[in-house]
Amino acid sequence: MKSNFVMTKNVKNFVTLTNNLLNRGNGVPGMALIYGEPGLGKSKTAVWWTANNNAVHVQATQNMTPKWLLEEIVKELGEYPASRSADLFNQVIKSLIAEPKILIIDEIDYLAKNKDFIEILRDIYDRTNTPIIMIGMGLANKKLERYKHLYDRLFTILKFESFKPEEIIQMINEISEIKFTPESIDYVYKMEFGFRQIVNLIDKSEIIAQANGLSEIDLNMVTKIFKKGV
Ligand SMILES: Nc1ncnc2c1ncn2[C@@H]1O[C@H](COP(=O)(O)OP(=O)(O)OP(=O)(O)O)[C@@H](O)[C@H]1O
Ligand SMILES: [Mg+2]
Repeated sequence: MKSNFVMTKNVKNFVTLTNNLLNRGNGVPGMALIYGEPGLGKSKTAVWWTANNNAVHVQATQNMTPKWLLEEIVKELGEYPASRSADLFNQVIKSLIAEPKILIIDEIDYLAKNKDFIEILRDIYDRTNTPIIMIGMGLANKKLERYKHLYDRLFTILKFESFKPEEIIQMINEISEIKFTPESIDYVYKMEFGFRQIVNLIDKSEIIAQANGLSEIDLNMVTKIFKKGV
């Protein structure tokens, strides 16, 4: 499999969102939410964008505490985390004022359960005016809606959509070492595979094709691979 980064429609929408966020007018709110079903490339896109732009990407996790979140942000900002929460918060503020950066918080669903996290993010935004992009799963929009103070600060909400047939063709052309028949691509489309499943399918297809001397993967083979689990 080739390690190309594919410019899907979702990726292009992500880039447009960040450009609009950076060029927003004075007084226009600067937080954004990106959400969508698992495996559509939200995190991969955020990491790719962070590597090429002035941004930091922080991944929230289960059992995270507010202090832990602040520590992760401080580390991503390239500083050594202080030991007290109040000092950590001030470190984040100072750093973002001295050197503005977009803050991307991935897996926001873990933080949406607790209003303390939401208030930390809102305070960081209010004190620094730094754009904050939150990334979450399919229900993240609904989960954040109840935090009105945060929701009011949303510049835009972007949903990552499942892939159209032409995008699946583009992905296969750009990352697969083996060809897929039109019928097999149609099957992938109808099953609403995410990028993660498509990558797994390509990986398994390449192994099977090599072992059996196949020059392309047909519908029969795709259904067999799918039944074994991708
Ligand atoms: N634009 C892309 N180009 C190439 N590969 C990609 C791209 N987007 C995603 N992938 C592949 O698909 C996998 C799943 O993507 P990713 O983890 O970003 O999905 P996600 O939307 O963040 O899912 P989740 O909601 O489960 O966190 C990645 O590990 C990567 O292998
Ligand atoms: Mg993710």
